[in-house]
Amino acid sequence: MANLKTIICGLEFPNPIMTAAGPGAKDAELCKQAAEGGAGGIVTKTISAKAADVPRPCMTLTNSGFLNTELWSELTPEHWVEHEYPEIKKLGLPVIVGLGYTAEQIAKVAPMVKPFADAVEMSVHYVGTSMEPMLDALRAAKKALDVPVFMKMSPHTDITEIAKACENAGADGLVMINSVGPCMGIDIETGFPLMGSESGYGWLTGRAIRPIAIRTIFDVCGAVKIPVIGVGGVADGKDAAEMLMAGAAAVQTCTEAILKGPGVYGKIAKQLSDFLDKQGYKDVSEIVGLTRKKLHERKPRKHVELPTCDQERCTKCGLCKVSCVYEAIDITEAWTVDKEKCFGCGLCVSRCKPAALHIAY
Ligand SMILES: Cc1cc2nc3c(=O)[nH]c(=O)nc-3n(C[C@H](O)[C@H](O)[C@H](O)COP(=O)(O)O)c2cc1C
Repeated sequence: MANLKTIICGLEFPNPIMTAAGPGAKDAELCKQAAEGGAGGIVTKTISAKAADVPRPCMTLTNSGFLNTELWSELTPEHWVEHEYPEIKKLGLPVIVGLGYTAEQIAKVAPMVKPFADAVEMSVHYVGTSMEPMLDALRAAKKALDVPVFMKMSPHTDITEIAKACENAGADGLVMINSVGPCMGIDIETGFPLMGSESGYGWLTGRAIRPIAIRTIFDVCGAVKIPVIGVGGVADGKDAAEMLMAGAAAVQTCTEAILKGPGVYGKIAKQLSDFLDKQGYKDVSEIVGLTRKKLHERKPRKHVELPTCDQERCTKCGLCKVSCVYEAIDITEAWTVDKEKCFGCGLCVSRCKPAALHIAY
């Protein structure tokens, strides 16, 4: 079995699948269930100087992603210190404590969590998009603590610049990405926004945001030397493998744990392990950042490479034919492709459920 043990900033995680700051780590009971469910590390719900006053409804599943309008923990920092962190500390996994937001708030809460935090994760979600307030918050955490400080990045367009600035200001690692938005969904029966926030806005998470997370992680990993923990749309072991290949040293999952329960962490770790075994990898670290190397191995292709079909696997379901806008596919007798019509777009391969179709990447 491939080795899943992962070391980040000197912290040893039995596997690289962690909780994320969110409902799945909203208190000690949920963190305990996550540990029992196989999580390799615990990242706790973000706390700030005051308890959050969360508008309701605050979570909904739409057919194109998950929306939330949660803020940070609705429990006070004093409550966390007295009742939650001491129990979480007993779980025996590395504990990364979620903190927010401004330098002033961090200066209050960071000393309070010091006895319990193996590292902290500082969300920049409510400090705006300009650099200085983020860096001030980072400096406040560095001043108060002697454990690794991770900055949790929002998917800003200039995320690489922000990441480099955080590295230069002393961040020990990055966590990326936070929810994407603002976004909006509407209940068409009533016309009301689905989210209870004043604006009606919510923030998008789950599989819908994974390509944004993958791209930003890939870019940032090419620009900084500090480790990046990936988060955003990891729902199974293959999603985790993709994020590791983009450069993440480990991953977190939030929405999937909300939707499927705390057993998902161990399940994703097992699926990742099975994938590594199947591909012949001995250690999870072998796939971290793999795509950067692969990208250097190929030249952009403009000519058509025809897809090929494993006829024995093909069930002739017709999905590939329906979505072939070039009308190049025929499945009447066997699967065939018209080389004059095929554009080499590759879509048929991704539509093929039995994985009978292949194309050179
Ligand atoms: C309901 C909900 C609450 C969240 N609360 C927090 C939070 O308190 N602090 C934080 O940094 N991120 C928070 N997040 C963002 C997640 O930690 C994570 O970055 C995001 O959901 C993307 O991961 P996912 O696609 O696996 O859910 C929250 C997400 C959801 C869905």
